[in-house]
Amino acid sequence: MGLKVTVVGVGLVGEAIVSCLKERKFPCEWPPRVAATRERPETLAGEKMLVEETSAGSFNGADLVLFAGQEGAKGASVTWRETAERCGAWSIDNGRDFRLAADVPLVVPEVNSGAITPKTRFIASPNCSTIQMVVALAPIHRAAKIKRIIVATYQATSGWGMRGPQELRAQTPKALVSQENLEFDPKVFARPIAFNCIPHIDQFVDGDYTREEMKMVHETRKILDDSKIKISATTVRVPVLNGHGEAVWVETAKKLSADEARELLRKAPGIVVIDEPDPANNRRTYPTPLDLLKPEYKDVTLVGRIREDISSAKGLALWVVSDNIRKGAALNVVQIAEELLRRGLLKA
Ligand SMILES: NC(=O)c1ccc[n+]([C@@H]2O[C@H](COP(=O)([O-])OP(=O)(O)OC[C@H]3O[C@@H](n4cnc5c(N)ncnc54)[C@H](OP(=O)(O)O)[C@@H]3O)[C@@H](O)[C@H]2O)c1
Repeated sequence: MGLKVTVVGVGLVGEAIVSCLKERKFPCEWPPRVAATRERPETLAGEKMLVEETSAGSFNGADLVLFAGQEGAKGASVTWRETAERCGAWSIDNGRDFRLAADVPLVVPEVNSGAITPKTRFIASPNCSTIQMVVALAPIHRAAKIKRIIVATYQATSGWGMRGPQELRAQTPKALVSQENLEFDPKVFARPIAFNCIPHIDQFVDGDYTREEMKMVHETRKILDDSKIKISATTVRVPVLNGHGEAVWVETAKKLSADEARELLRKAPGIVVIDEPDPANNRRTYPTPLDLLKPEYKDVTLVGRIREDISSAKGLALWVVSDNIRKGAALNVVQIAEELLRRGLLKA
C-alpha cells in the first residue's frame, strides 16, 4: 500500500507534479487523487485520470497534499489548508500565500532541508525565480557570505500558468506580419509578449517594485536565513515558452575568484556548471533555456558566465537557468516530499 496523495490544481504545475511522482516512482497509490475547480476527465502524465471538483472529501485519508492551485483569498491552499491539516495530512504548497509566515518552513531541499521540522505539517515551496537563484547562490553564501545581490530575470511565459504560453503562441503568427495593434489579454501580460520584453511581473507593490521582485527579496532572505542580505531585483517577462534565465551579481564578505566559484558550484547539489573555454569559437560555453529540453538538464539548475565583477573588488557575476515548472515548482515540491520520507516524517 502506497501513500495517499492528493494533488490540488492540474494546470502546468499540477500536471508536472503528477509526472514527477510517476518518473521518480514516489511510493504513492496510483493514480494520485487529482482535484481542481470542476470535475472532468484529463490526460495527465500520459494517463487518463478523473479530475474531481475540490471538496472536503478530496482530503479524506490523505497522507500528503500537494497544492498547485491559484493563489489568494479564493485560492486552493487558503481555502483547503485547514481541511488538509484536520485530516492529518502533510501539505506542500506552491503558492505565495503562506511562504513568509513565521511558522511555515520555506524549503529548497538542496539549500535548507533543515528548516523542515516535525512541528509543522504545512511547508511552502518558494517562487520559481527565487528557487533557481538560491540553488546557485547558497554554496557561494556558505563559502564567502553574500552581502548584496542584484538580479535581472528573463522569465518564461509559462511562469504565468497555462494562459501564458497560449498568449505567446496566439500572438506570434500575427506579430510576424505586423507588430502594430497586436491583440493581447492584459489580465495575462500587461503588453503584447510576442517579440517583446515586459519589465512587469505580478502587481506593483512597495513603491516602485513589483510583487515578483519583492518575493525574490523576502524569500531569499528567509531561505538563506540571513535578513541582512541587500537584494534588488528587476523581473522581466520574455517571449520564451519555458525556462527562466537570471543575470545575477553578488558581493561577498570574502573574495572568491571566478575559478573558486566555478569549483564550488561544480560540487554543489542540483547544479550543472556549463562554463568551459571554447577556443575554437573564441568564447566560453553557457546554458540557455532551450538546453532544459535535454533530459540530463531538465531537473537541474544550470550556471554559466561565472566571472569576477569588474566593478566590485569582491563581486561575482553569473547566469542561472532552470525549468520554472519543474525545479521552480513541481519537482521542488516532490523533492520536499522525498525529504519527508528520508527523515521518517512521512512513512510509506
Ligand atoms: N507556473 C510557474 O512557473 C509556477 C512556479 C512556481 C509556483 N507556481 C505556483 O503554482 C500554482 C499553480 O500554477 P500553474 O502555473 O500551474 O497555474 P495554472 O496553469 O493556471 O493552473 C491552476 C490550476 O489550479 C486550479 N485551481 C484554481 N483555483 C482553485 C481552487 N480554489 N481550488 C482548487 N483548484 C484550483 C485550476 O483549476 P481548473 O483547471 O479547474 O481551472 C488549475 O488546474 C500557483 O500558485 C502558482 O503561483 C507556478
